[in-house]
Amino acid sequence: MGQTNDFVIIKAKENGVNVIGLTRGSDTRFHHSEKLDKNEIMIAQFTEHTSAIKIRGKAKILSAYGEMDSDE
Ligand code: TRP
Repeated sequence: MGQTNDFVIIKAKENGVNVIGLTRGSDTRFHHSEKLDKNEIMIAQFTEHTSAIKIRGKAKILSAYGEMDSDE
């Protein structure tokens, strides 16, 4: 599987944004939930343990694939 070590940057645009890590492998479940307040930034990677990242709430997301806003 093609994996990169690129970081994903998430900047919360409101209080209470959730960054949720989902497990890699046949069992896909939440393993970590991080709550960000407005203007807090999380810098995360996809790892051996994390295959997907779910973002709940208004945030700006930067990755190797570009920049996105979850509220647009
Ligand atoms: N222990 C987790 C891991 O190594 C930490 C983690 C990495 C994480 N990327 C994440 C948690 C993204 C939430 C979202 O996989």
